[in-house]
Amino acid sequence: MANQRESMHIDPYERTWILVSILMLIVFFGAITVAGLSFGVRVPDPVARVNPNKLEESITFAEPGLKEVAPKRYEAYIVAQTWTFNPAEITVPAGSIVKFYVTSRDVQHGFKLQNTNVNMQIVPGQVSSLMVKFDEPGEYDFICTEYCGIAHATMYGKVIVTP
Ligand code: CUA
Repeated sequence: MANQRESMHIDPYERTWILVSILMLIVFFGAITVAGLSFGVRVPDPVARVNPNKLEESITFAEPGLKEVAPKRYEAYIVAQTWTFNPAEITVPAGSIVKFYVTSRDVQHGFKLQNTNVNMQIVPGQVSSLMVKFDEPGEYDFICTEYCGIAHATMYGKVIVTP
């Protein structure tokens, strides 16, 4: 046994890089933990499934748009389709908390909301959701971030936050 242990010689450089790799993993794990707990960075989760061919029959997406669920609390139901968002514009007062529910009618799209940490993949049949608090009045553009065809670059909308 003692002989085997002696034969496990690790070069000092190799040892250093093994330690650096382990240290990097610890730093990355710490960064993800801090981002998740302190900065509200969340992985968008598929919250529900819908039939993309029958959105008209869906309770939530038959009439997409903004729904007020409590004072300054909203749910925004948005349908992505080639090459528009429906609705392409929503307006809320500053201080509002908006939970976005986005799905696709046809192909895969993206939903990135400027100056927030919302950036979701929108897959037909699946509802992606993230929540945002709009503290500052202004206009927040949202764009499609996944190539979805010839007019992909024209696919955008905005959230207007009024004072
Ligand atoms: Cu929709 Cu790109």
